[in-house]
Amino acid sequence: MSGVGKIARVRCGANIALAKYWGKANGALNLPAVPSISLTLAELYTETTVEFDSRLEQDELLLDSAPVQGRARERMIQMLDRARDEARVSDRCRITTRNNFPTASGLASSASGFAALAGAVAYAAGLDHSLNTTSSWARRASASAARSVFAGFAELPTSTTDDDNLCARPIEPGRTWAEVRLIVAMVGKAPKSIGSTEAMERSRLNSPYYRAWLETAPRLCDEVREGLAARDLAQVGDAMERSTLAMHACALTASPSVRYWQPETLELIDAVQALRAESVGAWFTTDAGPHVKVLCLAADAHRVQDRLKASVPSADILVCSPGPGLTVLP
Ligand code: DP6
Repeated sequence: MSGVGKIARVRCGANIALAKYWGKANGALNLPAVPSISLTLAELYTETTVEFDSRLEQDELLLDSAPVQGRARERMIQMLDRARDEARVSDRCRITTRNNFPTASGLASSASGFAALAGAVAYAAGLDHSLNTTSSWARRASASAARSVFAGFAELPTSTTDDDNLCARPIEPGRTWAEVRLIVAMVGKAPKSIGSTEAMERSRLNSPYYRAWLETAPRLCDEVREGLAARDLAQVGDAMERSTLAMHACALTASPSVRYWQPETLELIDAVQALRAESVGAWFTTDAGPHVKVLCLAADAHRVQDRLKASVPSADILVCSPGPGLTVLP
C-alpha cells in the first residue's frame, strides 16, 4: 500500500530522571536493568512532524535543520520500518524535528525526541496506538523516552521476562504536584563526549560498582515513589541525590572512566548544598552531561535560581515545571 499522505505534528516534553535508569538487562530489546522515575517538563520540548510521501526515494530525517546521521538515524529508521510493517505501508517518510534546547548534551533530547517520534510516526501511519504502546515503542529506541510520553511523574519499571511491550506508567495520573520545580542550570551547549548508551554499557561491563548499583537503584526508586505519594520533597530530593551519585560513581569507575561533570557542575552542586545549609529545600541531580538540575518548590525557585547564577555566572538558568507529555498539535 502507498499514499498514506497523513501528516502528524506532535510536541513532547523532555523528562529528567529523579531515580536514574543506568544499564540494560537486554540490549537487543533495550530493557532497563533498574526501575526509574522521572518528571516530564513543560519548558523543554521536541516538536516533530512526520509525513509519509510516495514520491520520496528514501527517508528524509532532519533534526534542527540538519540531516540526522549515525546511531540516531538507525534508531529512527528502525522505528519507521516497524510502523511500515504494522501499517503495511511502503512509502518513505519526511521527518522534521526540532528541540527548543541543546541536543545531545545531557538534557534528555533523546527522551523527548523518541517519544515524539513514536507518537507522530504511528499517527501518520494510521496506527491506533495507545499511550502504553507509544511508550513501549519509544522505550525500544531509547529507554528514558518511554517516560516522556506521560505527563508529570512517570515510572519505567524493569521486566522480569524479556517483554518487548514494557512501557512506562504515569504516577498518580490526575493528581499533579504543581508546586514542584526543576531548575535547569546549563553549563555550555556542547554535545556530550560519550553517549549514555555506550557509557552505561561500559559501566555494566567493567565497573566494579555495577553490582552495587543494581542492588541500590530499586531501593532509591522506591524512596522516590513513596516520597512523591507523601508529598515529601525532602525524601524525594534526598533519594534523588543518592541515585545520581550512585549512577555517576558507577560511570566514573568504568574503564576507561566516564566523567560527565565539569568544574562548573561541582560549583553548582556546592551552591545547592549551601542553600540546604540555610534551610532552603533544594536538591541536585545530573545526567549524561555537565548540567545540574535542582529540585525545589515554586516558592523557593527565585532564591535557588539567583544562587545558581551567582555561583556560575556563565550558566543559563531555566525554571521548569511539570509538563503535559505527548501532545498532538493542530
Ligand atoms: C542518565 O535513555 O539515553 O539520562 O536507552 O541507551 O537510549 P538508551 O539510554 P538513555 O539513557 C538515559 C540515562 C540518564 C538517566 C535517565 O534518564 O534515567
